[in-house]
Amino acid sequence: MKKAVIFGLAFAAIVYIALLSYVLIISMPSKEESKEKWIETEKEKEISFAGMDVCRECHFETYKVLMSGNHSTVSCEACHWVGKEHVIKKDAESVKIKRNESWDLCLKCHLKTPANKIKTIIPSEHAKGLYCVVCHEPHK
Ligand code: HEC
Ligand code: HEC
Ligand code: HEC
Ligand code: HEC
Repeated sequence: MKKAVIFGLAFAAIVYIALLSYVLIISMPSKEESKEKWIETEKEKEISFAGMDVCRECHFETYKVLMSGNHSTVSCEACHWVGKEHVIKKDAESVKIKRNESWDLCLKCHLKTPANKIKTIIPSEHAKGLYCVVCHEPHK
């Protein structure tokens, strides 16, 4: 009788350890698997940038001007910010850039700093206190 109990307990312990190691080691996703899972979750998230091809559908003239000028490498949404909502609602609010916002927007890319490799200006010397779009057509 006693032997049977000890045997039973030992057996139960072995099964328990086996199950535990299965859960901890075997069923744990490998690095590769968890990376793929992460990519899948990211893909399922909503994409909020519509992309220039979509903007072009309704704003072909602006697109043509942009493509033929200095900003041909800059996407619409780099300046107007995410336009997915605008594409659905066709309202002006979410994509509108007010004149007084152009200062900050333009200087995000054109402020003179040691690391900035594109054409830069020193606003206090260059802009004379006027908004950038007073003198520059942003799509050109
Ligand atoms: C399905 C057609 C359509 C698409 C696609 C579209 N737009 Fe528009 N957009 C409009 C219409 C219509 C207006 C005029 C809205 C108004 O004046 O109330 C407009 C107005 C604008 C304005 C002017 C806002 C203002 O009054 O200053 C901007 C900026 C703009 N769109 C940017 C974009 C960008 C960037 C994209 C791509 C992400 C885009 N649009 C895609 C239809 C579209
Ligand atoms: C370099 C930044 C920049 C890029 C890139 C850009 N825009 Fe603009 N856009 C502006 C600014 C700033 C204004 C406001 C101009 C003003 O108030 O004088 C504007 C105004 C507009 C307007 C209002 C009407 C007008 O022409 O002034 C529309 C429509 C528009 N943009 C659509 C687009 C579309 C579509 C694209 C891509 C094909 C695009 N923009 C790319 C900065 C940009
Ligand atoms: C997302 C970055 C970005 C933003 C925002 C942006 N630009 Fe530019 N801009 C560029 C790039 C890139 C070029 C072309 C390459 C270069 O100048 O080195 C350019 C070129 C220019 C040039 C021509 C420079 C030359 O070669 O003579 C002018 C002028 C200019 N931008 C003005 C503006 C104004 C005004 C605004 C705001 C309405 C603006 N930019 C917003 C990136 C940007
Ligand atoms: C009073 C008018 C005026 C205002 C305001 C103005 N600019 Fe200019 N900008 C010019 C003129 C004129 C040039 C030289 C001719 C050209 O390239 O168009 C120029 C040239 C530039 C260049 C090219 C510099 C180079 O090295 O070739 C950039 C970038 C630029 N401006 C950005 C801006 C930004 C950003 C603002 C707002 C902070 C601004 N500008 C405001 C008139 C103006």
